[in-house]
Amino acid sequence: MNYGDVIATGRLEFVSSESIIDQYREKVDARLVTLLPSEETLPTELHQAIRYSALGTGKRLRPAITMAAAKACGADPLLALDAGCATELVHCFSLIHDDLPAIDNDDLRRGQPTCHKAYGEAIAILAGDALFALAFEILAHSIADPAKAQKSLLCLARASGSQGLVGGEVLDIQAEGQSGDMALLQTIHARKTGALLGACCEIGAIIAGATAEHQANLKQFGEQIGLAFQVADDVLNETSTPEQLGKAVGSDYAMAKLTYPSLIGLDNSKNLASELVTEALKLIEGLPGDASELKGLAEYAVIRDW
Ligand code: IPE
Ligand code: IPE
Ligand code: MG
Ligand code: MG
Repeated sequence: MNYGDVIATGRLEFVSSESIIDQYREKVDARLVTLLPSEETLPTELHQAIRYSALGTGKRLRPAITMAAAKACGADPLLALDAGCATELVHCFSLIHDDLPAIDNDDLRRGQPTCHKAYGEAIAILAGDALFALAFEILAHSIADPAKAQKSLLCLARASGSQGLVGGEVLDIQAEGQSGDMALLQTIHARKTGALLGACCEIGAIIAGATAEHQANLKQFGEQIGLAFQVADDVLNETSTPEQLGKAVGSDYAMAKLTYPSLIGLDNSKNLASELVTEALKLIEGLPGDASELKGLAEYAVIRDW
């Protein structure tokens, strides 16, 4: 099965929960098409690059988790659709910049040439910048209650910035070729990937009007799922194929990245990813809504046909 088939059929080589992510992905894809400025909007090349990258065939895990977290707290998940799209745009910005020659220097993303390969480095950098700003614009617009809006904006900003995703990316490149330990690696992964997934869950809970305790538990749950997801991503970088993943494989080893398989081996990494999810699921027991989809998405994030 190649990447196109994987996306077209909704089968992502996971053993369960495909239908949950499929349903969310359909809604998110349709909404993103209208939320993003058209290709005819000036500057046209910038907006073409933005749509090229953001409308590429991603899994939409972050918006799905945002919406499922709202549902787990008793709300209609559609209330969190635009907020979920905002988290997806932060993610898209991070992918465009992560692929740049100065960072991971990758040519393939989501089964197509990376943004800088298709549009050049300058436009790719600026498309990432614009997506980052657009994410906050969409989030601010999407929540009518000022207190919920403020809290959600704060949450996304903290998770994305110098002590969250961007900081994690810096630690990731600084660790290349260096000897690092598990504590450093966990810090990197928690920031570059865990923080945003934590914010997705917390924002879903905020929109649903969940208690402070449930918001905190969901944030921690998302962070742990995000860490597990990045451990799984490290494994797949060694074990999968570009056709399956839609991006390069073997690149972590080639760039001497600090990864879980490089420190503890493939089997231990797979076990760790599963254990992290099992532990995380305990954090979302007793929520007021239906948490079954959120649980399914957590499993989807790591239970893979390695
Ligand atoms: C890739 O994220 C980068 C990581 C943080 C592991 P995804 O695997 O969610 O990428 P898309 O959105 O499906 O392309
Ligand atoms: C990506 O991490 C994390 C962010 C973009 C924040 P990686 O560099 O490990 O992920 P891939 O393999 O390029 O998707
Ligand atoms: Mg990277
Ligand atoms: Mg990368």
